[in-house]
Parts: sequence; C-alpha cells; structure tokens
Amino acid sequence: MTVVEDIKQRIDLVDFVSQTVKLKRTGKNYIGFCPFHSNTRTPAFVVFPDSQSWRCFGQCNEGGDLFGFVMKRDNLDFQEALKQLADKAGVTLKPQTQADQIHDQERNTLVDIMEAAVAFYRQQMLETTPGKKALDYLHKRGLTDETIKTWGLGYAPDSWSLLLDHLLAKGYTRELILQAGMLSQGDDGRVYDRFRDRLMFPIRGIFGRMAGFGGRVLNPDDVPKYLNSPATDLFDKGRLLYGLDQARSTMRAESQAVIVEGYMDVIGLHQAGFTNAVSPMGTALTEAQFQLVKKMTSNIILALDPDAAGQKATLRGLETARKAMDMGEQLSFDSRGLLKIERFLKADIRVTTLPDGKDPDEIVLENPEAWRKIIKEAKPLVNHVMDSLAEGQDLADPKVKRTIAEQVLPLIEDVGSSVEREAYRQRLAALLRLDSRSLQLNTATASHDRRKRNRVYDEGEGDQIRQPVTMAAKNRVLEEFTIKYLVLDPDSLYLIDRCLAQFELSELSLEDFQEGDMKHLFTLVKQSLSQSEYERSDFVEMNLGNDFELPEIPVVEAESLSDVQSRLFKDRLRSILRLRKNNIEDRLREIHYLQNETEEKAYSNDEANLLYLDLIESRRKIDQAMISPESGGSGKFQNIPGVYYAGRRYDGSSKK
Ligand code: UTP
Ligand code: MN
Repeated sequence: MTVVEDIKQRIDLVDFVSQTVKLKRTGKNYIGFCPFHSNTRTPAFVVFPDSQSWRCFGQCNEGGDLFGFVMKRDNLDFQEALKQLADKAGVTLKPQTQADQIHDQERNTLVDIMEAAVAFYRQQMLETTPGKKALDYLHKRGLTDETIKTWGLGYAPDSWSLLLDHLLAKGYTRELILQAGMLSQGDDGRVYDRFRDRLMFPIRGIFGRMAGFGGRVLNPDDVPKYLNSPATDLFDKGRLLYGLDQARSTMRAESQAVIVEGYMDVIGLHQAGFTNAVSPMGTALTEAQFQLVKKMTSNIILALDPDAAGQKATLRGLETARKAMDMGEQLSFDSRGLLKIERFLKADIRVTTLPDGKDPDEIVLENPEAWRKIIKEAKPLVNHVMDSLAEGQDLADPKVKRTIAEQVLPLIEDVGSSVEREAYRQRLAALLRLDSRSLQLNTATASHDRRKRNRVYDEGEGDQIRQPVTMAAKNRVLEEFTIKYLVLDPDSLYLIDRCLAQFELSELSLEDFQEGDMKHLFTLVKQSLSQSEYERSDFVEMNLGNDFELPEIPVVEAESLSDVQSRLFKDRLRSILRLRKNNIEDRLREIHYLQNETEEKAYSNDEANLLYLDLIESRRKIDQAMISPESGGSGKFQNIPGVYYAGRRYDGSSKK
C-alpha cells in the first residue's frame, strides 16, 4: 500500500468534507452547496462514500478524491496536501534527507565548486607533466581517452593549495570550498587541499549531480589507497552508488543491476559495454543503496571481490564479518541480512563467483565473454552459500554434513516463499546426500515463528484478508497502470493522443484521473514535455518526491522487442479506454442519482438529457475504439446494450 492509499484508508471523505461543507444525506450519498463556486440555489456538490470521491455538477464540473479536495479547498500543491493529510492521518512520510533540507542555492554553489574541481583536475591531467603520469597509468589500465572523458577522471596535483587558489580566484569563499569537501583542516584551523597527487574519480548522484570525489594513490607507498570526500551535505556514501547516473537506464532496459567492488571495475565494465554496473564506495552495501537500485530493477547481482571484505563477509557470520572489514565501517549485511532485504524489497539477489585474485575490470578487459558467463552463472544467495561452504569439504563426513546443514537451514527458513524454501531444502539434501525429510528438523515452534514472520511477504500461503474490489479500486489500478508507463516514457503520450484522436476521442487529460496522486503524476508528465533542460523521465523522477516508487519495466527479449512493445502499447491504450468508460459510467450513475434520488434537481430535465447524450456518445466512440484491432480488439462489432434513462433509451430507440 502506498502512503497515499494508507492516508485515504484512515480519513473518511464524508467526515472530512463535513468539517467545512454542510452535507445532507440523500440515499447512499451526500449532497451540499459546492464550496468552490458561489451558489445558493441548487446544491450540486456530491460526496460518494462508496468510491470516496466528490464531484461538483454545477459550475465547476470537477471532481476527485480526498487529495483533490484538499488541494482545491486550501489551494495547495500535491506535496503540500500530502504533508497536511499525512499529519492529520498520523502517517509518517519518509523524512527528507539532510541534503533536501539545505538551502537550494547554497547546495548549487557546492555543486558548482565541485564541477570547477572536476574541470581543474582534468586540465591538470591533460596539460601538466606530473599529470601525464596519471594519464599514462589510466592508459596502462586499459582505459581509452573517451572513457576517461566520460567519467571525468583527472589528476590532483602534489600541492597544498593549487586547487584552493584556483577556486578562490574563481570567486568561491574558503568557507564553501571547505564545505564542499575539497579541503582538509589542520588543528591550527589552517586549510589545505584535501586531495594531493591522486587520480581523481568524480562521484555523482543518480541524476548526475556532483556529490564528491574518490582519489586513488599513484604512489603505491601512499595511504590510504583511496581517499574519499568527507561526509558533506552532498556526499552521503551510504546513499550513493558510483556510476548509477550512467548505469540507470541500462538497469531499467535490461532489468538487471550488477554491483561490483570498485571504481575501476565500474569504469572497465562500462567501457566493455556492460553498462549496468555500479559500486559502493568502500563501505558495505546499505539498505538505502539497495533501494536506489530497486527503483530500476529488482534483479540484482552481487559481483564482489572474493578476497575483499565483501564476499567472505557475506558468507561468514556477522561477527567475523566485522573483523574482516579493514575500513572500520560496520557491515550492514551478512547473508541473513541480504535475504531479509531480498524479501523486504521483493528483489532477486544473486551472487557471482569471481575467479580468485582477479577484479572484474581485469576479467572484462581480457575477455568480455568471460564476464558475460560469470554474470549468467550467478546463483541465488542460498545456493551460493551452500556451494561455497561445501567447496573442498569431505561431504561424506557426517560432521561436515551437520555443520553445513546447521549453517544453511536458518537461511532457508528466512526465505519468503514456501515453494522456494522447499526447493532449497531439496537442493541441500541432494548436495549432502541426505533424505530431504531429515532436513525438516526444525521444531513446530520454529516453523510457526517463521510463518508469523513471513506472512506479510508470503504470497504462497493463504490467510490474507481479501478486500472486495470496488469500482474505485479497479479504476485506481487502471490509473496506476496508465501513469506508470507515462512516467517512465513521457514521450509516449504523443502516440497515445494520436491514437485517441484516430477514434475521435479527446487527448488524455487530467480529467481522466480521479486519484489525487495520479493527477499529480500526470501533471508532472505534462510538465516534463514542455521543458528541455532535463531528460523527460529524469524530470519526472526528480520532481517525484520521496513517497513514490517507480515501477519496473518488464523484461523484454531482444528478438521480439517490437512485438512485445506493440502489445504493451495496446494494453495501455485499452486500459485508458477502459478507464474512460468506467468514468463515464460513474458519471451516468451520478447524474441518474442526482435527478432521481435527490429532492433538489441539479439540472433541468433538458440539461440532464443533453449531458446524458454527450456521455453516451463518448461511450459509443470508446466502445468502437475498444473493438478495433489497433487497440487489440477483435475487430468484430459486438452488440453493446444501451442505457435507459427516464424511460428512453439513448441510442435513438425508445423502451418498450
Ligand atoms: P580495492 O582495494 O579492491 O581497489 O578497493 P580497486 O577498486 O580494485 O582499485 P584498483 O583496481 O586497485 O585500482 C575497492 C573499493 O573500495 C574502496 C574504493 O571505492 C575502491 O574502489 N576503498 C578501497 C576505499 O574507499 N578506501 C581504501 O582505502 C580502499
Ligand atoms: Mn581492482
């Protein structure tokens, strides 16, 4: 359930509207004077408790949900309405990140300072003698000039103040340069260039905005090997992934993300065409980082160095893992932690086996096919743990069997789906040459606990309360379906509108959406089309706010791409038509209710008849569009029953 749905469940629209509008119950619904236009004669404002929606049949001729009501009443934008209603409903919104809270302008200056540093480091690398050794080093590691440019790599000179002087000369204050993380400060308060004689890797946020730097030693005697920016307002290591800005679209398109250990691995893989790779910055993966990736895809492959903290830590228990980390950071995830994340995020996390002593960048430079194979052979976490534990062990030894089973069984218990659990149990049994029944060793209480823990996630096991699917809920699904694709690909709105026009239907508009959050998203999509500063989908994503999660695009096999796409498009078109038809039917029912079940008449009979005719004509066009092959219909005309109103049938004939 999204925050928006949660709020709607907690606040009843009738109660809420009643606080400011006097409502009178008539039949199932409530009617009153519209608060949005001056009217004293006919009450034309109706609240429908069933669908938790409202509509003004008078001058406004507008309607919507709780959010739409608050936005209109209090003249708020969607985010403001969300805050206000969340507060009222007692729903906590995700806190803004620290970076969000800093004043925009100052933040922009910090970004400018870092961009100036990127340019400075690059110029130092290309135009100075000491810089040449950095460039040579990169060439020696197999990077092309184009790659070096794409990633903005550079050289920080061996000096205490060259960068500082350069930035001061550009007019930036010492204070802000320090805040941007470009300087270090001695005990006496004096500041000096933080990065000296290092190869510089600019680190950017998901939309390419500068966040910080990683600097690699060139002199092997220097320590640390990599120096990163200090934690600043913009550089929050646990919430960034190196390369995500460049990997993002591939992750979506291929529905797969690969996480590697280091900067050079990311760059090497991208150069070789594997543009879905990212890396953390020397710390263990955080939940926030998984969530960033999850926005693009739920298929996540960990390709971490076997020798480094990463993979051994994954295999060992938490305690040893902590000791294995040499960078002093707390390890966030051991294998159990990873399984929890996997379940919680509904992700598929797999682990690769990297050949000993070789980093991904070396592997891929030597032979791209080898990398492809490694990725293809990535195993589900539990299998990976099983195989790693079993490797080189005498599996005939009962003690070995027991030790392995003891380590793997708790992991299996953590798996969310009962089908998967059973499959893992069988695999473990086969590996240890045991009867799988002997592995069901857990007591009744243990499995009871497990069921309790897993219930929220487990779709395989029943006892979930099913909510009746109301019309409103069905429409919400249609609205979501339509919006999700538009958010990912705003340009496709043109195509949709062209198709609608073919059927003489009006273009997709705000009126097609009743749900406040969907209206908000549609507005963003429209706005994205009338700006040119950002990629359209980036624009939408940037303005999305914290409380929306973007959906994934389904995986599409390359050969059948156009087929699948056209089917997808037809599906979208059909759902838009369906949505419109549902909306029209809602309107028809509402007018019927207004005319027949309330004491006051919102319309004269002639007006009502005209409205009816209008709606019915639109519905006829929609029906025609729905049966046409362009929208995936059969092409055959089906007999569509007419609607009766006031004894007359609105297809010209009259009721017998
Ligand atoms: P590695 O030591 O494996 O380096 O650290 P690497 O990425 O393979 O670099 P090359 O190939 O030797 O040039 C992996 C990652 O851990 C972080 C960096 O992000 C690095 O890319 N790290 C490593 C640090 O942050 N600090 C360190 O001192 C070492
Ligand atoms: Mn390496």
